[in-house]
Amino acid sequence: MKGKSHPTNDVSLNPSSGHSIRDVIDHVDASRRQFIQSGVGAAALASAGGITLGGLVGTVQAAPVPAGLGFPGIGFESIPASIDIDPSSTASAVADLVKVPVGYTANVFVAWGDPIMPGGAPFSGTASETAADQLKQFGMHNDGMHFFPIDDDRDDDKRRDGHDGHDDDRGSSKRGILCVNNEYTHEEVLFTDGQVGAGYSIAKTRKSQAAHGVSIVEARRKGGKWSVAKNSSLGRRITANTFMQVSGPAAGHALMQTREFLITDVASTPTGNTTNGRVANGTVNNCAHGITPWGTYLTCEENWNGNFGGTGAVDTSVTTEIGKLNRRYGLNAGGFGYRWHTTDPRWDLTTNPNEAHLFGWVIEIDPYDPKSIPVKRTALGRFKHESAQYVVDKDDHVAFYLGDDERNEYIYKFVCKGKLKKGRRAANRNLLDEGTLYVARFDADLTGAWLPLTPASIGLDGKALRENANFTGADDAEVLAKILIKTRMAADAVGATMMDRPEWTGARPRINGFREVEVYCTLTNNNRRGTAGASTNAADGSTSAGSARPPVDAANPREDNVHGHIIRWREAGKSVKATAFTWDLFAQAGDTLTAKVAKPTNNYQGNIVDAPNGSADYGAPDGLWFDYFGRLWVQTDQIGNGSGDFVNIGSNVMVCADPNTGETRRFLTSPNKCEVTGVTMTPNGRTMFVGIQHPGEDALAANPTEFSNWPQGQFAVESDGVTALPGGRPRSSVVVITKDDGGIIGT
Ligand code: FEO
Ligand code: CA
Ligand code: CA
Repeated sequence: MKGKSHPTNDVSLNPSSGHSIRDVIDHVDASRRQFIQSGVGAAALASAGGITLGGLVGTVQAAPVPAGLGFPGIGFESIPASIDIDPSSTASAVADLVKVPVGYTANVFVAWGDPIMPGGAPFSGTASETAADQLKQFGMHNDGMHFFPIDDDRDDDKRRDGHDGHDDDRGSSKRGILCVNNEYTHEEVLFTDGQVGAGYSIAKTRKSQAAHGVSIVEARRKGGKWSVAKNSSLGRRITANTFMQVSGPAAGHALMQTREFLITDVASTPTGNTTNGRVANGTVNNCAHGITPWGTYLTCEENWNGNFGGTGAVDTSVTTEIGKLNRRYGLNAGGFGYRWHTTDPRWDLTTNPNEAHLFGWVIEIDPYDPKSIPVKRTALGRFKHESAQYVVDKDDHVAFYLGDDERNEYIYKFVCKGKLKKGRRAANRNLLDEGTLYVARFDADLTGAWLPLTPASIGLDGKALRENANFTGADDAEVLAKILIKTRMAADAVGATMMDRPEWTGARPRINGFREVEVYCTLTNNNRRGTAGASTNAADGSTSAGSARPPVDAANPREDNVHGHIIRWREAGKSVKATAFTWDLFAQAGDTLTAKVAKPTNNYQGNIVDAPNGSADYGAPDGLWFDYFGRLWVQTDQIGNGSGDFVNIGSNVMVCADPNTGETRRFLTSPNKCEVTGVTMTPNGRTMFVGIQHPGEDALAANPTEFSNWPQGQFAVESDGVTALPGGRPRSSVVVITKDDGGIIGT
């Protein structure tokens, strides 16, 4: 996610204290082996001498796993970066192509504007579609996704349950439901004449809203070719206006009660009523995703604040409850430049401030039931949710690992109160409504603690959260509701570790002898880390979103962290209920050939393990997913045109890595100015779906193909049998990848 609709949120700060790196280096280097000796207490580790920058950057350690255990190997040869190294060339530095290794074939499976349900019209090629057309077409700017198999010959419960990829019976690999998030829209490409070409209107708002959300697509493989079953009754769009329920501890709270509107094609009209706080309309900024072990889809609301705006003043006062919420979550009158609020008062913070509290959640969707009502599960907290990775441990306890993607935000886990009842889908349906939300503290000795966010949790001020002015309520039920609505402030209060933008979480499969609960999280970058005028998120929750300038720490050890890193942790006792863990850094991304002048804690080269050195460099890791066989796939989101800090890295990529050794190979390079995000496989691993988002980003309506006309420039793209215009506007798409010998992807 980046681009015109999603500018970075630089906020000026007053300088406060300076900072010394020396203590951090001491702590980290002394205890760098903690992760691989997870039984060793911090006190047992002696302080080490000879501390250097190299020692800090080298905190990555191999996992304590014998070579090969739990890992099936990588069989393909790394492909070159997509970069034009001829400086005299005036052409784009990045090929406007998807490239994969020799022996693999990529094709477009579905693209923005393709019809996905009965009555859907083929993509016009000119974006002339109305909102009504878009409601039956694949949404814009696809992101996280999952393939749910359809097994016609199995009973209902088996068909839907247990397809977690960790058993031997993962279901059909020739027919399934692909659930795909549609994160955001680029209005200059979405509309033929751009956002305000012929004036802005409710018709444009409705089309933009219709292009957000989730696309549910039936996928079929026939004669070796994958296609969208366009007339499937399972085809569905969930948008910014879809009716939803709100469940869990925050449902019904006064902050969740908002103005009720009658929503039609031409207006959102207030009814004069206030909702009961248990219903909502729509979902936006659906970034990455999750699945549950009972076979449902989770879509995560990330930069939802940007879809709101204000027709007048928006409260950002530090003295009012709404003002503090707006500050901490980055809500303001300008938003990210959408103009929805000018035609649809539901999105106007000036007149409808509580509407924002209905966003920032994880939403559960049953992909097998097109009539099901999506449910916003408030127990998982409210923030800028990136993804939700579940783990079922040896005792059938279930946890979901969650990142809040903004500079200096936190990593969370939600532990369900109830155990998983395997094979009993209905019995698990409300597991997401009751449990405990925790936030992570990463300590310098490579241990960590999960800090519960409950009314009784003790904050840094020595008081229970129920006594904290941000969360006071009539009873603990109300206190918990406020903790969840103001999750960021609760995490501030207990002293969580500010991270370098937590993106996707991924759990290493416990197969082939590997038994740990080991979870990874991409930390994509943080241009404020370690910069002058250090400041931290205030314990009283008053910090504006993304505005602090935290000093480097053990878990985020590089100042000006432009390339990002990947952190991982292991739960104590192999239990998702553990409140203690050990951690290390799996990889620090970077550019081996960089010409940037090194800083005391950042040489910008990273430590990606590749041969020859530098052959699989990448920056800004974002998408992260373990396949069913134990390979780690990492996708990136940097500027994507081979400019600036990425002149040697080129376009965005997807790499494959060995979690034991860190060995990394580059599997896919992408078109100009796009992001690679979203990856899933069929159960047999022989088909992979990969998302290409916002090719040709930043183009204006007058010249939508200025930077890219992918995929039409690479493939003869058919939309329901109609070939798309060869020179047509760029379209976010899902690519389908197969191995030419029919083998498992990655072998
Ligand atoms: Fe939508 Fe954090 O990526
Ligand atoms: Ca390297
Ligand atoms: Ca992302």
